[in-house]
Amino acid sequence: MTKHLVKTGGKLYLAGEYAILTPGQQALIKNIPIYLSGQIEPALSYQLYSDMFDYEVGLEAEDNYSLIQETIAVVHDFIKGQGLKLRPFRLSITGKLEKGGKKFGIGSSGSVTVLVVKALASFYQQDWTADFIFKLASYTLLKRGDNGSMGDLACIAYEDLVLYRAFDREQVRTWIAEEGLSQVLARDWGYQIEPIEPALDFDFLVGWTGQPAISKEMIVPVKSAIGPDFLELTQVAVEAIARGLKTGDKELIKSSLLEVSRLLKDLHPAIYTKELLDLQAAVEGLDAVAKSSGSGGGDCGIALSFNPVHSQEIIERWRKAGIELLFRQGSL
Ligand code: PMV
Ligand code: MG
Repeated sequence: MTKHLVKTGGKLYLAGEYAILTPGQQALIKNIPIYLSGQIEPALSYQLYSDMFDYEVGLEAEDNYSLIQETIAVVHDFIKGQGLKLRPFRLSITGKLEKGGKKFGIGSSGSVTVLVVKALASFYQQDWTADFIFKLASYTLLKRGDNGSMGDLACIAYEDLVLYRAFDREQVRTWIAEEGLSQVLARDWGYQIEPIEPALDFDFLVGWTGQPAISKEMIVPVKSAIGPDFLELTQVAVEAIARGLKTGDKELIKSSLLEVSRLLKDLHPAIYTKELLDLQAAVEGLDAVAKSSGSGGGDCGIALSFNPVHSQEIIERWRKAGIELLFRQGSL
């Protein structure tokens, strides 16, 4: 019996969070190599297990497993449409992105969705591109009524730092309601996903506040505060950061990341918690820049440091402020 192993990582927003909820806007999202693993193998009946829960289920609807089950239903729908026969399997998911029951906030639900799509692709021997995996995963979340931008899925499917341009989710939802799966998937949704290769060296640091924030709940109040100025200024800054990364312009990256951070602070007071303000203040006087990441209200913040000694100093200041270094990726 063949076992197939797949994995998916996490993600964190560098810039463009909240603005990316509006079609046409862009965001920069970084892949985080902290992984979920999936193991899938043929079985006599459907068996689903995730280490998030201490029990196993089949395909009969179950609350905790609904995301996994709905992803399977969408992929199965597509597989059937290809004229292939469905076969029962055992799917086991391990590596919850959390510690002591508190999630890191690096994209566990997006990561689970992409993981299930990848596991089934492997099981049914489908050679799907990152782009197609993104579309299937987005389709699943849109169908579920998810209120996110799908930027997390773009980053997780591509496993890279990406510049993501948001599509019109209402339009795609209308197609989902009116057309068949393969027809919707064949359409041009109007998003763009561009992997970015930074042309300069820096340490990328992730600080964890230890306070879980629920993005879905943060979106509701914050979204109503979004206006045209926020969108336009964020877009200009996101483009500048992307340009700075591609051309190795450190000062442009620093000033533009500070600009998106300032825009987030002005947007809504719930985004920067005291801990996230401390996380940012820790780079004062250093050759580095820091900000909250994603929905804010807890979870993680990020820092880009351009000097290895300063990276150590940031980590030390974070430790004193009760912020844990969750991940560090360095080219310095
Ligand atoms: O908190 P995170 O890392 O899941 O990011 C949320 C980013 C938002 O723009 C606020 C919402 C979204 O789905 O894009
Ligand atoms: Mg979050």
